[in-house]
Amino acid sequence: MKDVLIIEDDAVLNRFLSKHVREMHLEVSSFQSWGAVDAYLREQEPALIVSDIRLPDGELAQRLPQLVELCPVIVLTAYGSIRSAVDAMKAGASEYLTKPVSPEELTLVIRKVLEASKLRLDHQYCKRRLKATEGCFSYMIGESSALREVQNMVEAVATSDMTVLIQGESGTGKELVARALHDASNRAARNFVAVDCCTLQETLFESELFGHERGAFTGADKQKKGLIEAAEGGTLFLDEIGEIALPIQAKLLRVLETGTFRRLGGVKDLKADARIVAATNRDLEAMSGAGDFRSDLYFRLSPFVITTPPLRDRREDIPHLVHHFLERHDFSSRINRKVTQAAMRTLTAHDWPGNIRELKNAVERAVILSRGKPRIGVEHLGFLHRRGSEACMRLEFDHDPSLEEIESRYLEQQLRKFAGHRSQVAQVLGISERNVYRLIKRYGLTEVAG
Ligand SMILES: Nc1ncnc2c1ncn2[C@@H]1O[C@H](COP(=O)(O)OP(=O)(O)OP(=O)(O)O)[C@@H](O)[C@H]1O
Ligand SMILES: [Mg+2]
Repeated sequence: MKDVLIIEDDAVLNRFLSKHVREMHLEVSSFQSWGAVDAYLREQEPALIVSDIRLPDGELAQRLPQLVELCPVIVLTAYGSIRSAVDAMKAGASEYLTKPVSPEELTLVIRKVLEASKLRLDHQYCKRRLKATEGCFSYMIGESSALREVQNMVEAVATSDMTVLIQGESGTGKELVARALHDASNRAARNFVAVDCCTLQETLFESELFGHERGAFTGADKQKKGLIEAAEGGTLFLDEIGEIALPIQAKLLRVLETGTFRRLGGVKDLKADARIVAATNRDLEAMSGAGDFRSDLYFRLSPFVITTPPLRDRREDIPHLVHHFLERHDFSSRINRKVTQAAMRTLTAHDWPGNIRELKNAVERAVILSRGKPRIGVEHLGFLHRRGSEACMRLEFDHDPSLEEIESRYLEQQLRKFAGHRSQVAQVLGISERNVYRLIKRYGLTEVAG
């Protein structure tokens, strides 16, 4: 159970409050200074705070905005200082108690505030849960124009039966696009059958894909239908198509050309009613030029190509994705985690060679490293720096530079990195776009800024 924090510098009153709260069967931690409170909050999250307005080392007013984000706050005010109670309520405090505090009033107010907070948590939990499950269906998170274009293409081609080739680096969401295509098609009620061309052995591939007749080979004691039949009326997703061996390529070409196939050992031409969607992270065109992939098959596979953009080309999607992955992670643990601005800048600046999958793993790792704390900071992302050389930029000077020189050089580097996109540079630098603009002018970098 989480603690109730009693923050009151008057030792007698502090003891009195703690005693009564304990009698409500609640855990209590009591403090007489902000220094001690800060140390506690670095490690733990309270359920409720009961705090005096003024402590020897500072005012509650300065801390209230951060505290109310953590949990409800009840303010203790001296008789006659109703003004400060009103201010505290305006700043987000839940209730106030006037000294001298009666035990009945204390109990009543604490019960009321805890009950309201529980209801709010339940409500948030349900909302987040809904959103997270919605996420399974609403697929692609992100607002960038590059992602919009992918979504538009999916929408445009989904209801036709056209073969679609999805190209993109590893982890950019090719499979997600394939599923979206299926779900938006008229075939959505039937199966989406994914075949990983990478892992299927060449010898097994044919019988897995097309099935086999009884006696087709030793051990084939009964007829078996292949995956292409499982996908009948639905979608057959050929993942990593660039990996299939040339003999199988010939068989696949036949399916695409004639719309028919034969089971292994069979003589009948069976109709293939599966929409084919293929994906690859390789350059099929170059491969077909080099003779590693049949060019006639490439031609048949690529009447409609969707290219999934790498994450580094749409950095504005990173914060959305981070929140999305955190939400999915958090809704089961009921913790509402936040990412500090500096951590978000680190995440946005990273180049993500493994794209969205790598980002997803990084968020999960940071959650583990943050050990149940509700805040994810740069210190939980150390692993990003250690590995990436691209992630860390180096500024070199042949003399001791002034701050302005560093600022100007760093800005120039970032402008080059983001091809002059001011909004993205602003994100990384943690300043407003307007300020980026101001600095560009001050340092005469308009040319770099494009
Ligand atoms: N736009 C997105 N919004 C939310 N999650 C995404 C998005 N794009 C990808 N993902 C998630 O990222 C992970 C990788 O996506 P996916 O498996 O589709 O990539 P891929 O291109 O097929 O990768 P590979 O080439 O390695 O097979 C998955 O967990 C997927 O759910
Ligand atoms: Mg994939």
